Amino acid sequence: MATVHAGAPSTNFFLDGNFSPVAEERDTEEMLIVGAIPEDLKGHFLRVGPNPVHVFSEEAYHTFDGDGMIHAIEFRGGKARYRNRFIENEGFELEQERGDWVYKGMKSLMDPTPSRIPEGAPSSKNLANTAFTYHNNTLYALHEPSQPTIISLPDLDTQGPTDFDGKLTHPFTAHPKIDKKSGEMIAYGYSFQAPFVSYSVIDQHGDLVHTTPITIPRSIFMHDFAVTEKYTLFLDFPITLDVGRAIAGGPAVDFEPQYGSRIGVMPRFGSDEDVRWFDVETGVVIHTANAWDEGDEVVLQASRSNTADIAGAGTSEGNNLQENQGRLHEWRINLKTGAVIERSLSDTPCDFTRVNDDYACHKTRYVYAGIFNTERAFTFDGVMKYDNQSGITSEYIYGPNRHGGEAVFAPRVGGDLEDDGYLVCFVHDEAENQSECQIIDARDISAGPVATIIMPCRVPYGFHAGWVGTE
Ligand SMILES: [Fe+2]
Repeated sequence: MATVHAGAPSTNFFLDGNFSPVAEERDTEEMLIVGAIPEDLKGHFLRVGPNPVHVFSEEAYHTFDGDGMIHAIEFRGGKARYRNRFIENEGFELEQERGDWVYKGMKSLMDPTPSRIPEGAPSSKNLANTAFTYHNNTLYALHEPSQPTIISLPDLDTQGPTDFDGKLTHPFTAHPKIDKKSGEMIAYGYSFQAPFVSYSVIDQHGDLVHTTPITIPRSIFMHDFAVTEKYTLFLDFPITLDVGRAIAGGPAVDFEPQYGSRIGVMPRFGSDEDVRWFDVETGVVIHTANAWDEGDEVVLQASRSNTADIAGAGTSEGNNLQENQGRLHEWRINLKTGAVIERSLSDTPCDFTRVNDDYACHKTRYVYAGIFNTERAFTFDGVMKYDNQSGITSEYIYGPNRHGGEAVFAPRVGGDLEDDGYLVCFVHDEAENQSECQIIDARDISAGPVATIIMPCRVPYGFHAGWVGTE
């Protein structure tokens, strides 16, 4: 029996310190505020992440296996209300009923211990622990091997998974793109089996109206993609998935640079045969920032690294953070000449790249991202803003022993410029064991927060954040 003791030390990096889960669900407005929460910040700041309850093995637990928990702050009239809730998928409920593990986790799939999954139950948990999207007035929590899970606001109640009236026939990425000008949601999924990639468009009414397979030579971990007003970009970069390799005792996920890297460009409503592939420098992209059309060119901006340590989530022995922490990078693909020009945009190691979501799929001037700690994996020391016009990276560092996660852009109510809004993120002070929510003016991030909410409980480090504005 292995039940994770929330807040207890662990020899597993992803169960120790502020990676350790919390046990309680809360709903409170009783929080100390330093500074003043802006009156024109209205909406829900959301952060999801792994918060394991029962695990097969503490030692073999992988951070991708953790049950999903949402931490949310609702902002209204200069006030804040905090709620946190588990995401209640079928597998989670089975483990709650049993009071112990039922699902083994990705590093223990080959373990000979007999399965506890009851007949008729799903073969894996739809953890919904990775990211959010908001489309057609619906909030989805996402987990890339699974279907999107509908979550209600403001109570964070799990409504359950959706297959879009039976039309979704493939796994659904944690990073779909919403083109607010067309109202469409553009998504794809990757798989261990052919077709290794499938692609779908959901229209402004929530109807899935287009699906096509995308042919690539092998199964890969394609965690993100990009979309412009006209085109969809697929990133065939060589983080390979191989069940046979795992059975033979190797890693299920591995970086194999001999396969090279290329970007596929396809019209939004195109099909497999319409994809044009462009070779690029071999490397790794986990998260894109944005893409757009510019004359004959398609422009992509993303965090890119030379190598990856996906299987170890950055913590493998001998892992070279200098090589596998991403830096902001740009590809300009000329559709007329076929030429690709690449360049590095910033020296600051970063990931969790974001833009103002209102401008996604269209030209953006600013990219926001979490700044990596260069000594410790999966740890962010601050937030950066890259200005495409000046080429300048500005930064805000949280301070000694203080680490954060993804900062999301929340547009200011009444604002109309791209960076007229706030960056909102959770930060944890490891020396004081105190979590905060920081609100930073996106026009001047180096000035630090305009308001800080002292959280009533620890908010563990997690995966992605989201913003759902309200009127
Ligand atoms: Fe992600």
